[in-house]
Amino acid sequence: SAPKPLAGKKAVVTSGPTHEPIDPVRYIANRSSGKQGHAIAQALANAGAEVTLVSGPVTLPDPVGVTVVRVETARDMLAAVQNALPADIAVCAAAVADWRTADEAGQKLKKDGSGIIPDLKLAENPDILATISQSGASRPGLVIGFAAETEKVTEHARAKRARKGCDWILANDVAPDTGTFGGDLNEVFLISGDDAGADEHWSRQSKTGIAGALCARIIKHFS
Ligand code: C5P
Repeated sequence: SAPKPLAGKKAVVTSGPTHEPIDPVRYIANRSSGKQGHAIAQALANAGAEVTLVSGPVTLPDPVGVTVVRVETARDMLAAVQNALPADIAVCAAAVADWRTADEAGQKLKKDGSGIIPDLKLAENPDILATISQSGASRPGLVIGFAAETEKVTEHARAKRARKGCDWILANDVAPDTGTFGGDLNEVFLISGDDAGADEHWSRQSKTGIAGALCARIIKHFS
């Protein structure tokens, strides 16, 4: 059979949320099902890429033919991504928690009836997409991020692309009425440069469909 279009390419994909422990039983997290990231990992593997999927806690089955590394926190996710480098392609689809607690409690915080409420001190998490976009010699040739916006979707996403230093941004509208969170459908804009005229619009379709469109675009990029 003909060689697959991404044979010989290495890819790392992040997916799902991160969980940042407050104490042994509580955590801070973002909403994320992992559906989009997992679908992208599967599509890249189907196209012949050697894929490492670094996934936060999700209830999805592992994609077939993909190396899956499970992590909990943003710091662990960054370490796992760095461990998967060098790679030709990085897709950061995870909904990483921006903050973690500054001091994780070793024991469960007790609600002792005194009415005293714990003050959570937060610390900033590493930005995985920005870190690998700016990682010099080990930077993957094609770094792709997501931007979930509720307004001015392409405008905010273009600014994000510049700020993070990635090559492409897939921007989606996550306004509450869109049902994107946890749903099976997604609608995105591909921002690949400064020129708004070059933006691509991928109409509302399954997250598997979006993954296929992204994979096709990646194949075109390398051909
Ligand atoms: O800054 P914001 O969270 O809106 O950016 C979203 C993009 O950045 C996504 O691709 C997400 O996976 C990535 N990101 C990351 N590490 C963070 C925060 C976001 O990789 N700490």
